[in-house]
Amino acid sequence: MNRPHVLLSAAQSLDGYLDDASGTRLLLSNEDDFAEVDRLRAEADAILVGAGTVRADNPRLLVRSPELRQARIAAGRPEQPMKVTVTGSGKLDPESRFFTVGDAPKLVYTAPGTAADGWGTAATVVDSAPPRLEHILDDLGKRGVQKLLVEGGSAVHTALLDAGLADELRLAIAPIVVGDPRAPRFLGTGAFPRPLALTEARRLGDVVVLHYRAAAEPSSLDVLRLRQAIELAGQCPPSSTFRVGAVIGLPDGTVLATGHSGEGDPRNHAEEAALAKLEPGDPRLAAATMYSSLEPCSARASHPKSCTQLILETAIPRVVMAWREPSLFVEAEGVEQLLAAGRQVIEVPALGADVRRANTHLPGVRP
Ligand SMILES: NC(=O)c1ccc[n+]([C@@H]2O[C@H](COP(=O)([O-])OP(=O)(O)OC[C@H]3O[C@@H](n4cnc5c(N)ncnc54)[C@H](OP(=O)(O)O)[C@@H]3O)[C@@H](O)[C@H]2O)c1
Ligand SMILES: [Zn+2]
Repeated sequence: MNRPHVLLSAAQSLDGYLDDASGTRLLLSNEDDFAEVDRLRAEADAILVGAGTVRADNPRLLVRSPELRQARIAAGRPEQPMKVTVTGSGKLDPESRFFTVGDAPKLVYTAPGTAADGWGTAATVVDSAPPRLEHILDDLGKRGVQKLLVEGGSAVHTALLDAGLADELRLAIAPIVVGDPRAPRFLGTGAFPRPLALTEARRLGDVVVLHYRAAAEPSSLDVLRLRQAIELAGQCPPSSTFRVGAVIGLPDGTVLATGHSGEGDPRNHAEEAALAKLEPGDPRLAAATMYSSLEPCSARASHPKSCTQLILETAIPRVVMAWREPSLFVEAEGVEQLLAAGRQVIEVPALGADVRRANTHLPGVRP
């Protein structure tokens, strides 16, 4: 199954609305924000919006910048991404800009018997009403869509997050208060099973841009190995700093190396001690996970390189940890740096109390 990477993009008011309740669209971004979203469009193979957004906003869904369009062509890609929408009712005006503007392929996922003649060749009829988003993503994957940008609206964002199908979220927050419960909220009711991890918070003029990634769930092997790392912390010599254990393991259960803080040299950190037992270029590291009882450090007095840096110098693609480093000695940014470098980070806070219990010698740490 080759589903595309799904990036949700939305602009909301301070009080969480996507629009007001009037018939005209409420502007919730500024020029800089539009330019960034244009870049996201240019990176995407397809842009999806719900039928509600086609009806309410009549969007063009085109890359605006001539330079970005040119760059797509130069890279051997179509000038514009594919346009995709989804409807259960089939109530889509063939005169909407979705259909009439641009030469990009247009796909409408709709229930049997609802496709309108005026859509031309656009409709892909799916076998259920409402159309299942999993099926749509599978079908888009088969059509070669690797990156899907979803630009709303409320029902589609909610459904994708609720089904655990979104990989990333970019949210722009405008300094506007709508204050009208008739207006559409960014997200409606749902179970939202997958937590999100904040990867970026940035100011863009008067708009704040937040970037999140869907946090992955630990497997039972992950939990087993992380418990092993927590136990290893028991071997640390008495010290005034964090007592940490680390395990480097493969998905088939092989343990490549282990370490604990203070191993070899009192200043050594657990991840560093484990990594020192392997060649940095060991090809097995490309499939390995670093398990650490504590978030890998991002700055330290005892060594020119932080454990986060040492991990980033290897091909280790994922890090599983139990406890985020509290800012006792330095401001901890290990998770942020790993995520920013495209590594996967999985937190298992349920095991955090065990790590804190091993560190109650530190000021302010309680199990
Ligand atoms: N600020 C922003 O970033 C932004 C972006 C986009 C939109 N908006 C606003 O959002 C509002 C529209 O949001 P919305 O919630 O009404 O519409 P929406 O999410 O764009 O579309 C919802 C429609 O999609 C169709 N659909 C089919 N299968 C579905 C499924 N499995 N899950 C969810 N939807 C499915 C249904 O169409 P049928 O009814 O045809 O069956 C449903 O009514 C507008 O006010 C627009 O201005 C804001
Ligand atoms: Zn460290």
